[in-house]
Amino acid sequence: MRSVTTVADLRRTLEPSRRGGDRIGLVPTMGALHAGHLSLIARARASCDVVVVSLFVNPTQFNDGADLAAYPRSIDRDAELARGAGADILFAPTVAEVYPAGFRTTVSLSGLTEVLEGAQRGRGHFDGVSTVVTKLLNMVGPDVAFFGQKDAQQALVVAALVRDLNIPTTIETCPTVREADGLALSSRNVHLSPTDRERALALQRALHVADELISAGEHRPEIVLDAARAVLGRAGLEPEYLVLTRPDDLVPVTRIDGPVLALVAARVGQTRLIDNRLITPAPRPNRQVTAPC
Ligand code: PAJ
Repeated sequence: MRSVTTVADLRRTLEPSRRGGDRIGLVPTMGALHAGHLSLIARARASCDVVVVSLFVNPTQFNDGADLAAYPRSIDRDAELARGAGADILFAPTVAEVYPAGFRTTVSLSGLTEVLEGAQRGRGHFDGVSTVVTKLLNMVGPDVAFFGQKDAQQALVVAALVRDLNIPTTIETCPTVREADGLALSSRNVHLSPTDRERALALQRALHVADELISAGEHRPEIVLDAARAVLGRAGLEPEYLVLTRPDDLVPVTRIDGPVLALVAARVGQTRLIDNRLITPAPRPNRQVTAPC
């Protein structure tokens, strides 16, 4: 694996592959790699000739300076993990390389970004994500870029900006990797105390209860959400949001008649966690029309 820190070096390194028509894959990350990130790298490895992993803690997507300062950083360990998972190139630019003096452009989407994470973390969050992802796609020029379903809203935002801006990259969204007990892997999990680690399981349990009710034929979102909220309440958690939406545009559903995305965010102690689950109602049993004898 080769490590590069500048865009010029990155492009030089990729040039022979690009000329040779190799399929280039990009996995954008902010480091603190865990098995969730590694699953994206493995997925890229399986379908691409060249795998680039970017590692950049993007300051513009943090609305809170303390959150940015507390973000776990471990570049040597990350490099080792990325190499082990099959990365060919680790691109770890400095803040000055990504945002040089005089930088003045923001990529901003309307719709999709104002709700849920956008509402909680502030408008600037998705502007920061959209701008840095657009830049990374332009820097690397990948055929395909890999994102996690764990950040469902982010994956939808990225898919939309690539479509809107005619960026010639396919966006592949990969399943959420979980601990054995169901907790979605997150770089923030390291901040959970043992008690909070236990309480954090309620997020996944709430989504599970929603799934069970919908699979059993419940069509009323408010009934499903009340049951899911009760699960969180028993763990002493008050959700920042808990919603059932259409999977492709995050519009809340008023009746469950097809696949819905259940999304939840809650603060567990000092740590903010998110999770989601795509739920598909069981098909309605065919009404049997019996022929008269
Ligand atoms: P980061 O939080 O490091 O996540 C990098 C990628 O890993 C994202 O696509 C995220 O959805 C995915 N991921 C995180 N946890 C996962 C899990 N448990 N299972 C599967 N995939 C998981 O998301 C970002 O960085 C940044 O916003 C970024 C896109 C790099 C832009 O700065």
